[in-house]
Amino acid sequence: MLDIKNITISYQDRPTVKNFSMSLKAGEIASLVGESGSGKTTVIRAVLGLLAGGGKVTEGDILFDGGSLLQNTPDQWRRLRGTDISMIFQDSGAMLNPTRKIGEGFVEYIRTHEKMSKGDAWKKGVEMLERMRLPGGDNIMRSYPFQLSGGMRQRVGIAMAMTFRPKLLLADEPTSALDVTTQAQIVRQMMELRDEYGTGIIIVTHNLGVAAYMSDWIVVMKDGEVSDSGDRETILHGNHSDYTQKLLDAVPSLGGKRYV
Ligand SMILES: Nc1ncnc2c1ncn2[C@@H]1O[C@H](COP(=O)(O)OP(=O)(O)OP(=O)(O)O)[C@@H](O)[C@H]1O
Ligand SMILES: [Mg+2]
Repeated sequence: MLDIKNITISYQDRPTVKNFSMSLKAGEIASLVGESGSGKTTVIRAVLGLLAGGGKVTEGDILFDGGSLLQNTPDQWRRLRGTDISMIFQDSGAMLNPTRKIGEGFVEYIRTHEKMSKGDAWKKGVEMLERMRLPGGDNIMRSYPFQLSGGMRQRVGIAMAMTFRPKLLLADEPTSALDVTTQAQIVRQMMELRDEYGTGIIIVTHNLGVAAYMSDWIVVMKDGEVSDSGDRETILHGNHSDYTQKLLDAVPSLGGKRYV
C-alpha cells in the first residue's frame, strides 16, 4: 500500500533525511521512533505532501497503491488528503478552530469530501464520535474545543481522521500530550479502528513502550537516517543498535505497564 523508497528530504538544499525507506501493508501498524530532531515529522509530512519550510523530496520515491505521490497535482492531493490518507497531530485542539464549535468544523470537513446534507453530515459526525467512545456525540458537536479535555479533543481528531475509512493514517505523537491512562486508551482505540477498517497506521512516538505495544514494524531514526528497522520482535529482543538499546533503557510505562 505504501512504499517509501530511499528518499532524501532537503530543507533549502540541505539534506535532512537521508536514504530513508520503509513500507507498509493494509492493516499494519508501524512506529517511527527516535530523539527530537531525528526527522520523524519530516518523513510523515513528506508522505502527506505537506513539508514546511521549503522542504522537498530530492531523491527516491513514495508510492501509494503503486502510484508516485510525488507526481500528484494539487487537485489530486485535495482529493486524497482527509480521505484515503489522513493525519492526526499531537494536539488536535490546536488544529480545531477555537472560535467554532466542533460540529461546525466536522460538518464542513465531511461536506468538502462528500456530497451530503448538513443534517446527514451532522449525524455522520455524531456516529464517528460515538464510535470513538465519546458519549453524547450531539453535545460534543455543540461544544467549543476549549470545553473538552485534551483526551476528548484527541478522540475528536481521530474520529474526524477516520470518517472516510482511510487506507493510511499518519499520526504524529498523537498521545504524547496525554496522561498515561488516557494514552493507553487511545492507543487501544486506534488498534481497534485498524482492526475494523483495515487502516494502515504510521505512528510517530517518543515512547518505545507505545511502539512496542501497538506496532508490527518499528523504524528507529537517528540524525535523519534509519538506525534500525524491522519487525517488533527483532527490534525489541533481537539484534539492535546501541542507540536502540539506549531508547529501550529509557522506556516509560504505558498505563502502568511496561511492554518492553
Ligand atoms: N520547517 C523547517 N525548516 C527548516 N528545517 C526544518 C524544518 N522542519 C524541520 N527541519 C529540520 O529537520 C530536522 C528534523 O526535524 P523533525 O521535525 O522532522 O524532527 P522530529 O524527529 O519530528 O523531532 P521532534 O521529536 O522534536 O518532533 C530538524 O532538526 C531541522 O534541522
Ligand atoms: Mg516531530
